[in-house]
Amino acid sequence: MQEHIDKYTSEIDGFSPANHDELESFRIKFLGTKGIIKDLFEQFKTVTAEEKRVFGKVLNQFKQLAETKYNELKESFDLQPATQNAQIDLTLPGEGFEIGSRHPLTLVRNEIIDIFKRLGFVVAEGPEIEDDWHNFSALNFPEEHPARDMQDTFFIKKNNGKDDIALRTHTSSVQVRMMENGKPPFRAIMPGRVYRNEAISARAHCFFHQVEGLYVDENVSFADLKQTLYHFVKELYGEDFKVRFRPSYFPFTEPSAEMDISCTICKGAGCNMCKYSGWVEILGCGMVDPNVLENCGIDSKKYTGFAFGMGIERIANLKYVIRDLRLFSENDTRFLKQFQPEVI
Ligand code: PHE
Repeated sequence: MQEHIDKYTSEIDGFSPANHDELESFRIKFLGTKGIIKDLFEQFKTVTAEEKRVFGKVLNQFKQLAETKYNELKESFDLQPATQNAQIDLTLPGEGFEIGSRHPLTLVRNEIIDIFKRLGFVVAEGPEIEDDWHNFSALNFPEEHPARDMQDTFFIKKNNGKDDIALRTHTSSVQVRMMENGKPPFRAIMPGRVYRNEAISARAHCFFHQVEGLYVDENVSFADLKQTLYHFVKELYGEDFKVRFRPSYFPFTEPSAEMDISCTICKGAGCNMCKYSGWVEILGCGMVDPNVLENCGIDSKKYTGFAFGMGIERIANLKYVIRDLRLFSENDTRFLKQFQPEVI
């Protein structure tokens, strides 16, 4: 044992590591849980009582020697600038780190919300899995309406119409929930994800995002609807955009309209984006059908309201000229990085 200790002592005395790794090997070799010192202490247990007296001291001194050597070396390594060990060239440019950016759909959604918030609209949300009542029936969809068809709707449970459960196809379902659970006046917007059973392509996806709006009070008229949406477009795109309404049909609004704005790309001159018409459609809207109000327990003789709904992808598309819808959900950082980071 003495022989071993003498050998190790001179090894420790002469030990001069060139780097951290060598020092670490030293620590493992001598001081580690399976190291030499541990081993010597194990052997120590087996020697005679006579030897114990002699070796106890020697062994403890040896242990101390190894520990002191290690601690001294470690301290001197820690104090040394890293450059001496790792040979880092401080003149090289730093690595830096990237701040994430907001998703373009989030940017556009927040912008839409901000505009309506300034008009006194609150934000309401609802479930993405809906029953037939909230997604269709309460909204005055006739039983045989094609939108109830399997082609458009992802059904989770298909029973007999009334008890169907589906992924919501629009956020109008949140309007129903809001009206059912409260009392007029209502002034709210409903942002959220919606699902439609469509083949995925550059122009269609099986899910997208909407912001719908609802305003119900006494004496709300189509003029209020128009003025609100005019204001919205001006805030979103600037002053010099023309707006037009075209008559349309939705089961839950009467009268219904679709709103176009002059093409954001060619400003009305005609281009690929607007199919050379100078106009692009941005939303659907109308006066809430009295049947819908009654379905939600609201007196349609006393109250009227307007509603509108738009696809966030569509608005983002017109704002940033993104020609392929799939980019929004592929999480390609080369695409996402192009949108300015926000201070969080
Ligand atoms: N829910 C309609 C859609 O998904 C949009 C809409 C909302 C139209 C409110 C009119 C009024 O297409």
